[in-house]
Amino acid sequence: MTTPITLSAPEYTDADFRRLQAIAQEQAGICLPDTKKALVYARVSRRVRELQMASFSDYLAFTTSPSGTVEMEKLICSITTNVTGFFRERNHFDHLRTEVMPSLIPVLRQGKKTRIWSAACSTGQEPWSIAMTVAGSFPEIGNYDFRILATDINSEVVARAAGGIYGRDELEGIPERERGLYLEDDGAGSLSFSVSLRKLPSFKVLNLNAPWPFRGSFSVIFCRNVVIYFDDETREALWARLSERLEPGGFLYVGHSERVANATQCGLVNIAPTIYRKEG
Ligand SMILES: C[S@@+](CC[C@H](N)C(=O)[O-])C[C@H]1O[C@@H](n2cnc3c(N)ncnc32)[C@H](O)[C@@H]1O
Repeated sequence: MTTPITLSAPEYTDADFRRLQAIAQEQAGICLPDTKKALVYARVSRRVRELQMASFSDYLAFTTSPSGTVEMEKLICSITTNVTGFFRERNHFDHLRTEVMPSLIPVLRQGKKTRIWSAACSTGQEPWSIAMTVAGSFPEIGNYDFRILATDINSEVVARAAGGIYGRDELEGIPERERGLYLEDDGAGSLSFSVSLRKLPSFKVLNLNAPWPFRGSFSVIFCRNVVIYFDDETREALWARLSERLEPGGFLYVGHSERVANATQCGLVNIAPTIYRKEG
């Protein structure tokens, strides 16, 4: 049964948008510029209608009430932008394959724990591309102490990512060789990542701008195309925290339009466009 949707447009005022801007900032560190007022209406009004509420004001009162915790999660999901793609910004995957894997493989063979973090994984194309890259360099990697941690604040995209199932029309960017090696036809028009590849990533909901409930460090961190939604202060604080979690000599990959303004203070050296190496 589908949820009935009220037909009239819910009331949406400047004050509602300001409240949404404050919520996005407080809950996720996301800056919603004034130019996004209409976009936010388009994304959030669906929920307001589904809940049969007449106004954003009612919706926000509910969302911020003690019984609105689940709805707050849905609100955050609706305001995130999740554009991604397999092997997006290919230079990072080339660097991982040619510069990182040759030194990681002997370390793994010695039995050392090794981790890569996809820190805003969206619907999973990024961590699955990492998995295909490392497995391409070292097919037995699943037998070693290696994992990809894939996280995102949006619980809906994390669930999709963890499923590891994509339609034929979503596979753009995956070379034929990798399609043949790692994707299996599920007989229902979709393709599913193979059992051997599924050992590598683990998926979790995580807000980058809140405390991280795990210890440990990473050889490589992908944090791409997410800080564009944050203000300068939030960005710099995040770069510093990510750098603390990088092993000496580890690598941070950032999005094509991003840079680490406080790289020196973070102990990071910019070795190529959008690639940083932790000193040491
Ligand atoms: C444009 S996508 C980028 C996906 C992928 N990294 C890439 O480059 O293709 C941005 C992702 O950042 C996530 N995001 C936004 N704010 C976040 C936060 N505070 N903590 C964690 N993830 C966040 C969004 O949910 C979205 O999936």
